[in-house]
Amino acid sequence: MAADKRRKRKPVRQYFSTPKKGCRTYGANKKWRCNASRPKCSSTEGDLIISTPLQERALAEALCSQCNYVEKPKVNCLSLFDGLSAGLFVLLNRLGLDVGNYFSSEIDEDATKVQTFHFFEEITKVGDVRNLSTYHLKKFGAVNLLLAGSPCNDVSRVNPLRKLLYDPDGTGILFFEFIRIRNYLNAAAMEGGYEFFWLFENVTNLDADTLQDMNSFLGCTPIKMIPASSTRERYFWGNVPGMKEKHMDIRVNFVPLQSFLDPGRTAGIDLLGTITTSSSSTKRKGTGCDAVVFQNGEPSELHLTEIEKSLGFPSHFTDVNLPYTRRLKLLGKTWDIDIVQDILEPLCTLFRKKAVLET
Ligand SMILES: C[S@@+](CC[C@H](N)C(=O)[O-])C[C@H]1O[C@@H](n2cnc3c(N)ncnc32)[C@H](O)[C@@H]1O
Repeated sequence: MAADKRRKRKPVRQYFSTPKKGCRTYGANKKWRCNASRPKCSSTEGDLIISTPLQERALAEALCSQCNYVEKPKVNCLSLFDGLSAGLFVLLNRLGLDVGNYFSSEIDEDATKVQTFHFFEEITKVGDVRNLSTYHLKKFGAVNLLLAGSPCNDVSRVNPLRKLLYDPDGTGILFFEFIRIRNYLNAAAMEGGYEFFWLFENVTNLDADTLQDMNSFLGCTPIKMIPASSTRERYFWGNVPGMKEKHMDIRVNFVPLQSFLDPGRTAGIDLLGTITTSSSSTKRKGTGCDAVVFQNGEPSELHLTEIEKSLGFPSHFTDVNLPYTRRLKLLGKTWDIDIVQDILEPLCTLFRKKAVLET
């Protein structure tokens, strides 16, 4: 009988989801403390049995990441070379973080059109990265997160005419805008005593000299991340907690192309290749009638919605009255959402979430 009553009580986890009157406070640091009410029962059914104060406290701390405690700050982000605002998509839609400011530096009109469509309220557009002087950076206030993936066309080995990092007429030189801004924001955060994280992305097919120079200016080596849905690997440099352990050099599991295809279409290959800004990347290279996708038995091009889904965006994310080739250009340059989510996830323990996670 007593056991039956216990079973009917709310699960212990619920006591941690919202601070209640008379709750206990765990954690030494007042600023970052977690308000968690004390569970009054022990669960005999599940694997959760709380019997000592030590266990109770350990449980509270373990569940801290699921609490929405008000003392955590909102995350303020500056995203350089922002493209489709994949960074903001991850922060809001995947991690559920409460984003204070999101400053977006981007010059491509098609990209800004997509940004406006989805994030009109959330984004402050700040234009060309080269115009972001110290004066502007100061006005942004405390920036906790700097995101960037500078243009790769002049550093990628795919381009035989690449101008590399130092040619003032190329786009490779924009890399140094990131370094300039990262160094400024880092110093400002140290002086202001607040958290500052940065993440920088680029392609993996860099010349050895270019990689060495980038490593040396960035002050670390990158991790190589391979998405589950394609062969499109990327390098990521940064100081996000836990990043170094995320070396996904070996694909553990993959999501087959078939799972992204629209109804009535059949994948001609198991795993999607690297989608670039060129429409040839949506077709299978080679001979015969082999194709990436078949429809009614005939070779077919990948739909943009299929590419969007494979990257982790909702279908039609770039559908803002742009033609196929221009949408493909945006998608060919953007980030894999799952990968960026994976890297940024630890920020959830440091910054405020939008809503309480209900159990
Ligand atoms: C590799 S893409 C980054 C895409 C982005 N990470 C995303 O997820 O969509 C590089 C971006 O830098 C932008 N860009 C190029 N020159 C720029 C500049 N001077 N200031 C700001 N953005 C610039 C390009 O328009 C392009 O969208």
